[in-house]
Amino acid sequence: MLYKRHRRLRKNTAIRELVRETTISSKDFIYPIFVIEGENIKKEIPTIPGNYHVSVDRLHEILEEVIDCGVNGVMFFGLPEHKDECGSSAFDKDGIIQKAVRKAKELYPELWVITDVCMCEYTDHGHCGILHGHEVDNDKTLEFLGKIALSHVEAGADMVAPSDMMDGRVAYIRDVLDSNGFKDVSIMAYSAKYSSAFYGPFREAANSAPKFGDRKSYQMDPANINEAMREIESDIEEGADIIMVKPALSYLDVVRWARDRYDYPVAAYSVSGEFAMVKAAASFGFINEKAIALEMLLSMKRAGADIIITYYALEASRWLREDLNINHK
Ligand code: PBG
Repeated sequence: MLYKRHRRLRKNTAIRELVRETTISSKDFIYPIFVIEGENIKKEIPTIPGNYHVSVDRLHEILEEVIDCGVNGVMFFGLPEHKDECGSSAFDKDGIIQKAVRKAKELYPELWVITDVCMCEYTDHGHCGILHGHEVDNDKTLEFLGKIALSHVEAGADMVAPSDMMDGRVAYIRDVLDSNGFKDVSIMAYSAKYSSAFYGPFREAANSAPKFGDRKSYQMDPANINEAMREIESDIEEGADIIMVKPALSYLDVVRWARDRYDYPVAAYSVSGEFAMVKAAASFGFINEKAIALEMLLSMKRAGADIIITYYALEASRWLREDLNINHK
């Protein structure tokens, strides 16, 4: 009987590497960094082990590692001193993000510095926008997002990443940036951002959980994929340069659809809960952390992501380098 011998191409490492369809490298990663007000702080985040709350005066310690690992991009999240109803420290020119961006660009002009544009870390109620009663007021929020994005870009950000899920925010931000002379600054839109329980560890880390209710009236229902395509389409029409799917691991089908339907770069955000699950299981010795983490990241690339935002960016880059050294001995 004639049958196909697929195993011929799996015989040894050499042939397996020759026919490999997907690769990952440090160049695929963006590293999220949590910057905090205060001095001399570099404190491990309990829910995101191996990641830190860092003050601007010690930011260079993290950035040195980023550069050393060959990672090209960072994304900043801020923990402000002061929160209020309208998140005013988010657009303060001496706010935490603005200071971090200035420092990063001063130290490493070539590093690609992205800022998360959202309000939940800055509002005292923890929602991603301006409230009207208990509802987030979409159009009012746009004005604030515009101010926040502009202040990040004035501080030197290369790219802004709106993660609020308000309608029209990409168009609004694009317009504000263009009319202030920042036509060349790009937008990575959190286009398909789901209302996900996988954000739990981040909300602990960023102190950004909503004080009442949930985010279901602006973040997407995990059950929907057609809706994700509509969100992506709007963001592209409005001027997004890169589209994002978030979370990643449980949404690889969404990544694949985005890749197949749109010829724009696709970013996948492997969120805090995905990371924390692996760390926790590894700490019990239930899994091989390195193998699992690299397999997860590879699966995101295979699903079609061009960019992966991951808390594993540094560790994974070191593991990949380690493997390369072993292979070339
Ligand atoms: C801000 C924001 C969140 C995350 C990224 N930007 C939290 C949220 O939407 O509740 C989550 C990232 C993660 O879990 O790693 N809105």
